[in-house]
Amino acid sequence: MLVTGGSGYLGGWVARVALDSWEVSATFHTSGAVETGIAWRQLDVRDRAAVESLVGEIRPQAIVHTAALNPGQGDDLRGVNVTGSGNVALAAASVGARLVHVSTDVVFDGTKGNYSETDRPAPLTEYAQTKAEAEDAVTSAAAEAVIIRSSLIYGWRPTVARAAQWMIDAVKRGETLRLWSDELRCPIWVESLAAALVELAASDETGFLHLGGDQAVSRYEFGIKLLQFAGVETTRVESIPTPPNVERPLDCTMDTSLARSLLHTPLPGLDEVLARGDAIR
Ligand SMILES: NC(=O)c1ccc[n+]([C@@H]2O[C@H](COP(=O)([O-])OP(=O)(O)OC[C@H]3O[C@@H](n4cnc5c(N)ncnc54)[C@H](OP(=O)(O)O)[C@@H]3O)[C@@H](O)[C@H]2O)c1
Repeated sequence: MLVTGGSGYLGGWVARVALDSWEVSATFHTSGAVETGIAWRQLDVRDRAAVESLVGEIRPQAIVHTAALNPGQGDDLRGVNVTGSGNVALAAASVGARLVHVSTDVVFDGTKGNYSETDRPAPLTEYAQTKAEAEDAVTSAAAEAVIIRSSLIYGWRPTVARAAQWMIDAVKRGETLRLWSDELRCPIWVESLAAALVELAASDETGFLHLGGDQAVSRYEFGIKLLQFAGVETTRVESIPTPPNVERPLDCTMDTSLARSLLHTPLPGLDEVLARGDAIR
């Protein structure tokens, strides 16, 4: 298996989980290699020749494409997310590799909620637009790919900080934290998402699949629960509606019944996952 974005949060978990059943190569771009047992390669997915060359050399049976720029991580969202995903899909098709592509719930505009795989994307933000275009690029280049749409990704190993650090920092600075009460998501535990992607890599499912945890929460509830889990004071955390001048998708909850019927991997909700973390700490 080749995991793009193996130096990232989700990609790192995919590579670790895959090691149980696959020989794993993984790519980094700027961060450097981190885990042992994995064959690390540097790659810029925007470089089509480099992607072709690496995939042609490794000839993976499966590629899990997690590499992307999230909002605020850089200027070239289009280059990395659209061109990069197209390059990976073309390379996968050229060697007959199974492709699992990672997309996002925010390709929807959040006016409906409970989105199913047949609902049409209507992205509101630049990031969402590039992720929606990436879906099209992958579908064109690798028709047999499975494209998963993930909700917010969180976890509690090795640290809760990945999803909560900015909130922890704000509370520790003594700031009042105002979190949106009307932006709804189905956050997914990084470890179950990674296991689902590894399961899909060995399957022949094609098309779209929605992967979210089994519990819809607001951004406020999500923040409060993560802060409490991290042992951080929450008295200065307030619930407010999303300001009218902020264009963000509100209700991006997803219907995940198709994934639950196809996968052996459970997709637990936030409370269940955090209770497990409490039990282990
Ligand atoms: N985080 C969420 O809540 C969330 C929600 C829904 C969907 N997603 C999707 O899930 C996937 C993984 O997200 P994540 O939060 O795990 O991301 P992340 O931790 O920020 O990792 C991103 C990865 O992409 C790599 N990358 C960035 N630019 C690259 C380039 N030009 N060429 C090759 N690799 C490049 C990074 O490499 P270096 O670090 O080495 O530079 C890193 O390994 C993405 O597709 C994202 O859109 C995330």
